[in-house]
Amino acid sequence: RLNPIDMAKYVSARRALDYVEDGMRIGLGTGSTAAWMVRCLGEMVREDGFRITGVPTSTRTAHLAREVGVPIASLEDVKWLDLTIDGADEFDPDLNLIKGGGGALLQEKIVATASDMMVVITDASKNVDTLGAFPLPVEVIPFGWQTTKALIEESLIGMDVGGRSVTLRLNRDAPYRTDEGNLILDLHLRRIGNPRQLSLVLNQMPGVVENGLFLDICDVVVVGASDGSVEVRD
Ligand code: A5P
Repeated sequence: RLNPIDMAKYVSARRALDYVEDGMRIGLGTGSTAAWMVRCLGEMVREDGFRITGVPTSTRTAHLAREVGVPIASLEDVKWLDLTIDGADEFDPDLNLIKGGGGALLQEKIVATASDMMVVITDASKNVDTLGAFPLPVEVIPFGWQTTKALIEESLIGMDVGGRSVTLRLNRDAPYRTDEGNLILDLHLRRIGNPRQLSLVLNQMPGVVENGLFLDICDVVVVGASDGSVEVRD
């Protein structure tokens, strides 16, 4: 028996698997909702004989996929994907997203962009009118990260945002490291008035690898609820 939060995540993950067809190459997202999807996909492979190839977006997801029997390959091997299913930290009415709460935004964005379709699995708590209440993760290389942080802070001054504090993500007391060995800066903006402009400005800076804004990438958001119902937005 699942608790209400896991129930919502589970039903959205289950419904997203309606998009899976035999033979597909599928991007496997990262996070607690995506983990439900990977487990269900494992069942489809083991019990229903589905032949699919999964491309994981993190070492965590790769580990889980192996554990539940989902065959995996690297993006280098498959090159292009039919579908990516992933979670999100926020989504707005245009299906733009903030991702990277779990730190895997770079691989997630590469994999989602290399897919014909991206389906996001969520619950209603992630639904916002304007992105930005969730801190925006930005992946930066370790070299000169303090300078990159200062540059970002400076660039936020002219921007339509509700807050400007930038913090280095920690894992206990040490800096959090991504799968690529990079750092994450979390931008506490409260409200992002112009996500497109912000994304462009951030990605132009030396030292910035990628930011957690997913704009015009997501095609469908599946919103699960703890009563077991599901709403599909596209
Ligand atoms: C991982 O880096 C994130 O982009 C996740 O997709 C996001 O944090 C959602 O995670 P949950 O499903 O655990 O809320």
